[in-house]
Amino acid sequence: MEESEAFDVVLPPRVVVGGGATARAGTLAARMGIRRVLVVTDPGLREHVAVRAVADGLAAAGIAAAVFDGVQVDPTVGNVADGIEALASHGADGVVAVGGGSPIDAAKGIAALAVGEPDRDLIALAGFDKVGGRALPLIAVPTTAGSGSEMTRAAVIADPARQIKVPVYDDALLPAIALVDHRNTLTMPRQLTAEVGIDALVHAVEAMTSRAAFPVTDRFSLEAARLIGPNLVRVCEQPDDDAARAAMARGATLAGAAISNATIALVHGMARPLGAHFHVAHGAATGILLAPVVRFGLGATPERYAAIARAAGAAGDQHPDEEAGERLVDWIERLVAEIGIPRLGAQGIAPEAFAAALEPMADAALASNGPEFNCREASRDQIVAIYREAW
Ligand SMILES: [Fe+2]
Repeated sequence: MEESEAFDVVLPPRVVVGGGATARAGTLAARMGIRRVLVVTDPGLREHVAVRAVADGLAAAGIAAAVFDGVQVDPTVGNVADGIEALASHGADGVVAVGGGSPIDAAKGIAALAVGEPDRDLIALAGFDKVGGRALPLIAVPTTAGSGSEMTRAAVIADPARQIKVPVYDDALLPAIALVDHRNTLTMPRQLTAEVGIDALVHAVEAMTSRAAFPVTDRFSLEAARLIGPNLVRVCEQPDDDAARAAMARGATLAGAAISNATIALVHGMARPLGAHFHVAHGAATGILLAPVVRFGLGATPERYAAIARAAGAAGDQHPDEEAGERLVDWIERLVAEIGIPRLGAQGIAPEAFAAALEPMADAALASNGPEFNCREASRDQIVAIYREAW
C-alpha cells in the first residue's frame, strides 16, 4: 500500500494490558450500563483463575452473571447457537469471553447474533461486513497469548458437517474492551503455550508482509516480533517467568491488532483447511506452514522479511536483506522444532488421506481471502507444493 493512501485502523475502544487487568471487568461492565452478563468460556477453564476473577468483579459491581462453558476447540455453529440460548435464558445484555481464541470467537458470534433478525446462520454471514454492524457489548479476557482475537473484528467458525472453517469479518464482532492480563497465562500448558505463541509470531510476519500492510500495522508487527522472538522458547521452558509471559501477552495483542488491520495471508488461508480436514490445531498448522510460505514469498518483498527477521532477532543489522530473509526461514524452522511442534508428517495424518486432501485443501485455501493478500501470488500447484514441503 502506498504511504499516502488512506488507511483504516480498527481497534477495540479500550485495551487494558498488564497484571491485574482481569479485575477491571466488573467496574468497566457497570460503566457501560451492563446489568446481566453471560460469561462465555470452555469446560477446561471453568475453574480457571480468570473466570473466578471475572465472576468476583462482576458480583462486586452488582452484575448478575451466568457461565456458559459449551465452547469447544474450533468453535462450531452449534456452540454459537447454544450460547445464544444460554444468553436468552439468563436475559443477558452483555457478554464476557474468557479463554483462548475459541471462546472469544464464539462469544463474538453470540454477541452479534443475539441482536437483529433471529435464526441467522453465521456461516452464511462469512466474508466481510455481512453481520450488520450491531452486537451486545463484549469484553474479551484472553487466557492465552496467541490468537489476538481480543483485538480483531474476525471470528472463525467451523461447520463440522461440511468440513469447513470460515472467517467472518464485521465491526460488530470487535470487542468493546480487551483485558489482556498475562497472569492469566501463567498456568497455560506447554503445548498450548507453544501453539498459540507461534501463531502470534505468524500474525506478525503475515501482517508485515501482507499486501494490505500500512505504516501503523508495520509498527505493530515489528514490535510484536521484537517481543515474541526472544520470549517464545522462554515461556515454553520457564512457564512461570512473569516478564516473559508479559512480553508474550503484549506481543500477541499487538500482532492481533496488526493482522486484524493488515489481514491474514497465505499461511492462514492454508492452515484452515488443515484444521477442517485433519483437526490440526490452528497454531500448530500456522507454525508448520510459516517457514515454507516465507521461503516461497522471500523474493517478493525481501526488505519486509528482513525487517521482521531483525526485529525478531533472527538476523542482525549486519546481514543484507536477502541473507536476513534466509536466516528468518532457518530460525523459524529451528524455533518450531524447539518448542515441540512436529512437522505435518508427524501429526498423525495418514499419508494417503493427506495426498487425497491436497487438491481440495488447495482449493479451500484459494477460496479464502488469504492468498490474495500474500506478497507473492500462489497458484493451486504451488499451494499443493507448499503443503507437501510442510509434510
Ligand atoms: Fe492465527
